Amino acid sequence: MARADLLVKLIKAGVSGDLGLFTRVSESIIAEEKSKQHHVLANQLEAILRSPEVNQNKSMNPKLLGQKFENLLFQINPVRKLNDLILTDENHGKVNELIQEQFRADILRSYNLEPRNRILLTGAPGNGKTSLAEAIAHALMIPFYVIRYDGIIGSYLGETASRLKQMFDFVKTQECVLFFDEFDAIGKERGDQHETGEIKRVVSSLLMQIDRLPSYVVVVAATNHPELLDRAVWRRFQVKLELNKPTRPLIEKWLSNFENQAKYSLQYPLPTIASKLEGLSFSEVEDFVLDIQRKYILALPEVNIKKIVDECLTYHSHHYNDNGKR
Ligand SMILES: Nc1ncnc2c1ncn2[C@@H]1O[C@H](COP(=O)(O)OP(=O)(O)O)[C@@H](O)[C@H]1O
Ligand SMILES: [Mg+2]
Repeated sequence: MARADLLVKLIKAGVSGDLGLFTRVSESIIAEEKSKQHHVLANQLEAILRSPEVNQNKSMNPKLLGQKFENLLFQINPVRKLNDLILTDENHGKVNELIQEQFRADILRSYNLEPRNRILLTGAPGNGKTSLAEAIAHALMIPFYVIRYDGIIGSYLGETASRLKQMFDFVKTQECVLFFDEFDAIGKERGDQHETGEIKRVVSSLLMQIDRLPSYVVVVAATNHPELLDRAVWRRFQVKLELNKPTRPLIEKWLSNFENQAKYSLQYPLPTIASKLEGLSFSEVEDFVLDIQRKYILALPEVNIKKIVDECLTYHSHHYNDNGKR
């Protein structure tokens, strides 16, 4: 991203008192200076950013959600980074395109084009749908809002339509990522006789509002059940990403990232581990490693890590076989 954009965002963060945005923009500036080999400046900025005053300064509150939206939306400060996620090259390419279009929307608009802003994430649980939505918000340095269905289709059915409209009016005023998890709950085909007319109306009004959002509101929807989605709903999404269970090489990549970040070696050939864990989701692979870490800590000071890994492999791959279909 061009430097000018960062400055604009930095000043916006200051004016609105959004500490989350301020931190993210500052981090991007530091990363940019580092990449230009300006290490003295980068270190100076980093020291300021890490100083206790910044973290204690209560006047820099993240923008508060209007109280009336609290039960419709959660605001989450995005911390997960794209680099923390293992993606296939294809998915990586698609995500980067989207981010470039959003960053350089002004250029597109000067040619009468809009950046794409509706993304559908599909795939079995534990393979990064929620994480990717958050990482997109982080990369774009914009707030991350998660829709709460309980507040939308809950006890307030009568007044839902007007509350929904208010919420969308609020969301429209800013750049943000709006995340609809388990989108099949609302985007499924409405053949169901049990649905009342009221719910149907709420859902169709919701879908219409999504269509009308400006392109700087990035809508990310996730579902484990893409087959349930109405075809008309499916078509609304310009970018579709399948986040599948990791293949062997991707498991290996996950494990090697882990070893690098944790500065911790499993002391075991990663291809062997990866072949035994094939079939698990990313989050199950993560559970396997956490299991090892717990056993490791409790066994200190004399640890036979190879033995622990063997034990955990037996457990986690048995676990996998027992559940056959995973
Ligand atoms: N592609 C991935 N790369 C790295 N870690 C992942 C990936 N997918 C999932 N994880 C890990 O698994 C956890 C659960 O993933 P999540 O994003 O909640 O999955 P989903 O929303 O698809 O169920 C994450 O917190 C993350 O630690
Ligand atoms: Mg999820």
